[in-house]
Amino acid sequence: MELKDKRIIISGCAKGMGEATLNSYVKAGAHVIGMDIDSELGQTVAENANKNDEGKSSFLPVDIGNPQSVSEAFAKASNLLGGLDVLAHPAAIHSLGDPSLISPEDWDRMFTINVRGTMLTNQAAFHQLKKSGGGSIINFGSISGLRPEPSSAAYSASKGAVHSWTRTAAGAWGKDKVRVNAILPAMATPMYKQANASMSEEAATASYWMNHRSIALGEKYGDPETDLGPVMVFFASDASRFITGQLIPVDGGQASIR
Ligand SMILES: NC(=O)c1ccc[n+]([C@@H]2O[C@H](COP(=O)([O-])OP(=O)(O)OC[C@H]3O[C@@H](n4cnc5c(N)ncnc54)[C@H](O)[C@@H]3O)[C@@H](O)[C@H]2O)c1
Repeated sequence: MELKDKRIIISGCAKGMGEATLNSYVKAGAHVIGMDIDSELGQTVAENANKNDEGKSSFLPVDIGNPQSVSEAFAKASNLLGGLDVLAHPAAIHSLGDPSLISPEDWDRMFTINVRGTMLTNQAAFHQLKKSGGGSIINFGSISGLRPEPSSAAYSASKGAVHSWTRTAAGAWGKDKVRVNAILPAMATPMYKQANASMSEEAATASYWMNHRSIALGEKYGDPETDLGPVMVFFASDASRFITGQLIPVDGGQASIR
């Protein structure tokens, strides 16, 4: 569970699980570069983490759906870090949308950020991790990619694609000692709060029965710092060295993966 001097990139560090992951890694002694499309917030998160903790962090802007932006940011980050050991990749977007109404533009935006963004960041990290003799990539899937989700069709399809990609990349890159897993979280973050705020009363009731009632550990979404942070440290550390290609729910029992 030691992260002392591990060289880590975290996407989506400006808020939610990216922010919590950055804080946990700096506390565990890692040297971290946080990235986000929101430069102002991302910079603040990286600066604040430096104040009290063991490791160190800095910030670089990125748009994960844009190939040039990803290759430039990852090259710069690996240069600054002197190599790479871990990529944690929570950055993504969510939107509600009925399958019969979704527009090609909304579909493409979702797939550009959530699916192409996962492929681009994972690929950029892989080349650096291979040079380091191996490492860990931690993607973010969702229960939405495992079950029918009539209210968020494009998001659900994009997360199903992230699950498939994670298994394929793990199969392909294991020989280079690069592990690829996906966390399937249920955490109270800005994304979760925004999704809840935009629901009708009827949808909110359905969501209670679908999402909250099934959380065995307390019927409510977790806290990113205390419920997710330690798991992210485990998957970045050598303690998880024999785990790859897995979809790991960190959700209080909301989903059961078979
Ligand atoms: N919150 C939950 O309970 C939940 C449930 C299932 C899956 N997830 C997944 O977990 C991950 C983290 O979710 P969260 O709730 O912390 O989200 P969040 O919305 O709170 O944070 C996402 C971060 O990604 C950044 N981002 C968005 N588009 C970007 C882009 N193009 N380039 C770079 N950065 C970009 C945002 O600026 C933001 O800082 C996501 O992949 C999400 O789909 C979340």
